[in-house]
Amino acid sequence: MQSTYEMSPPAHVAIIMDGNGRWATARGRPRSAGHRRGVEAVRRVVKAAPRFGIRVLSLFAFSADNWKRPGAEVAALMGLFDLFLSTERERLSAAGVRLSLIGRRDRLPAAVREAAAATELATALGARLHVRLAIDYSARDAIALAAQMPAGTDVSRLAFARRLAAAYGGDADAADVDLLIRTGGERRLSDFLLWESAYAELSFTPRLWPDFGVSDLAAAIHDFRGRERRFGALGAGSPTQEVARRIRCFCCGNRHPSLTGRVREVGNRAVRDGGP
Ligand code: FPP
Repeated sequence: MQSTYEMSPPAHVAIIMDGNGRWATARGRPRSAGHRRGVEAVRRVVKAAPRFGIRVLSLFAFSADNWKRPGAEVAALMGLFDLFLSTERERLSAAGVRLSLIGRRDRLPAAVREAAAATELATALGARLHVRLAIDYSARDAIALAAQMPAGTDVSRLAFARRLAAAYGGDADAADVDLLIRTGGERRLSDFLLWESAYAELSFTPRLWPDFGVSDLAAAIHDFRGRERRFGALGAGSPTQEVARRIRCFCCGNRHPSLTGRVREVGNRAVRDGGP
């Protein structure tokens, strides 16, 4: 059956995992119980992501502002990060998943730092999916750090994106976010990947993170694929996009909507990035 989608699946999905506390409170349990359940949702999403064509998954696990939470909650979260990074290592590696941390490391407990380094090493060759766990991360801090440069430094978007990635421990090739999902009903970015989300499609769901499942991810991706991304250029019907509409399949000579969408995306990206 021919696909009715215009857009390819999102290559880079970022998720603001919100609602753990409310999930727990609604059940009369401590907030840490919500975070523990949240880890299960992380496992579900990581497992399902490659099936949806996702190549990079950036998960906001702990913001630089989360240090303001009560010490017991911070300690519980750090304990969960340590446990997750230590116990998932083999499974991630076997599944071809590369895991890396983005954010500051110098304020993390030594156990988390060490577990992260060991997991990054063990999963370095994973090519199916790259999971970027944002811990002690602030987009504004990263941008401010990357902006500290001597006069005469190349300030093109591409060069700055590279500096920015280096500032928080990321890869420049994982830069632009295609789809940003936030669970828990709030509709804000909360200092997550601000530069990288300049043209991200936004998806907000009231689902609390511990309840977020594969069907929720599927729904967000379905919605994404029905949108038209223009990156500031013109939409379907413009002269450049008309070219995309006329493209025929190399193999069968037919016009496939998915092919049209891909060509349109590449054209739009070229416009957005200022050409090759
Ligand atoms: C926001 O919900 C969630 C966090 C600050 C922590 C996110 C952590 C996890 C999903 C679990 C650990 C993850 C890994 C990868 C081991 P909230 O606590 O602000 O919820 P609320 O808005 O209902 O209070």
